[in-house]
Formats: sequence, structure tokens, C-alpha cells
Amino acid sequence: MAEVVIVDSPATGGALVARHIATQVRHSSDFTLGVATGSTPLPVYAALARERSDGLDLSGVSAFALDEYVGLPRDHPESYHSVIHREVTEPLGLDPSLVRVPDGDEATIATAGERYETELDAHGGVGLQLLGIGTDGHVGFNEPGSSLASLTRIKTLTARTRADNARFFDTPEQVPTHCITQGIGTILRAQHLVLLAFGAGKADVIARAVEGPVTATIPGSCIQLHPHATVVVDEAAATRFERADYYRWVYEHKPAWQGL
Ligand code: F6R
Repeated sequence: MAEVVIVDSPATGGALVARHIATQVRHSSDFTLGVATGSTPLPVYAALARERSDGLDLSGVSAFALDEYVGLPRDHPESYHSVIHREVTEPLGLDPSLVRVPDGDEATIATAGERYETELDAHGGVGLQLLGIGTDGHVGFNEPGSSLASLTRIKTLTARTRADNARFFDTPEQVPTHCITQGIGTILRAQHLVLLAFGAGKADVIARAVEGPVTATIPGSCIQLHPHATVVVDEAAATRFERADYYRWVYEHKPAWQGL
């Protein structure tokens, strides 16, 4: 079972996860972090930036992003190349040559998935993968129905995801229709999955991902297949769990040496 940690706010959740990542990086300075975009991981990046101000050196850390839009120029402010650079690489002081984002160039998209998988394998995989969850249940951009064994490939975004992401663009029509995303099989190869969900809008989907059946209909439910998965939610996102009291009890009585 995934460990579910219920925190009072996204900031507390971000600080908790950042502290854990900082410990990993102090232990092994060439740690590999799997990074997500969207609003959810921002408190983690903000807290990691504070760890950096307090002396944490992240310059040896490698990062692999989950996904990218197809057809947006890399220098478009909403391409995930730009977003990762702006929200992760720069504030955390990562070495840009150690940060990879899938290639969403239309001209070479046919081979982009395989190339990213090869890069990930050659690197030795991801230590800790940060994940958000879409309101339709997607992780990465693995939309409902995605194979639980899928690898990095092109996907078509659902109308729901395009509507959810319209806030980042001037008009809803500007949201690309296609993306390239790590597959669920790819994500499951990371050593540790940390799935974050904040706000009432995520309460239903995170309960289904954690407590419902493992199903391609809710791709986030794939975390139930992973031997080390941690789910961090705020109170607003925790309202639909059937076993919330148990999760709180487990976390309160967790031995300190276990970490996240
Ligand atoms: C982004 C990603 C997506 C988001 C999800 C939630 O790289 O992989 O799965 O995590 O769409 O987005 P937010 O956090 O904006 O609610």
C-alpha cells in the first residue's frame, strides 16, 4: 500500500518532500530527480530553493521531466523545456546539461519516445519521481485508458486536460492537442514515487487512485503496483479517503528512521 501523508497545507507538504530530497542529495550528490510540471509540485521546488539558500548543493543532481507538448517551440514560455528551466533548473541551481525533457519537435517525434527511454536507461533511471495527478486521473500525460505497461510515447490530450491547462495559455485553443509522455511502465521503474495532490478539486481522483481498483481508467492508480510509493495530500484533498484515520495513525506512529 502507498503511504498516505495528510498535511495541513501544500507548503507543509512541499517542505516535507523537499527535506526528504535534501537528505537523499546529501547522501548522494549525483541523485536523479524525476520532475513534474503544473501547479502541484511548485511548493516542493520552492522549499528546495530554500534548502539551497541554506547551503544544499544541487549542482550534481540530474533531472528527467515527465512530459512535453508536441509542436510548441522549445522557447515558448509554456513548453515544458521552458517551464522546467524557469521553475526547476534556475531556482535550484541545477546544471542545465544534466536536465532532460522529452523532445516535442514534430519533425522527429516518431523516434522521440524511444530516444528518451534509451537516455533514461543509459543514465540508470530515476531515484525519486515527483508526480501530480490530473482531474481525469492522468499521471505524466498518461490519459485514462493508457496501458499500465506503456513506455514514453506520443499521446492525445483529453478535452478535460486541455481545459484544465488552458489557464497557462491566452486562449483554450492554444493548448496543444498532443504530448509526449513517459509511460506508466517508465514511471513505475523509478525507485520511489511521490504523488502529490492539493485542493478540493483533487479529492475525488486521489481517493480513487489510492483506494479504488488498479485500473487504466485512473492511471494514477498505478502507484498501487509500486513497492515504494508515498502520497502527500493536504486536508482539502483528503476528504474522500475512506481510511483517512488509519493513514493519520500510521504516520503519527511511524518510526523516525523510516523517512518518507
Ligand atoms: C505535468 C504532469 C501532469 C500534472 C497534472 C496535474 O508534468 O505530468 O500529470 O501533474 O496535470 O497538474 P496540476 O499540478 O497543474 O494540477
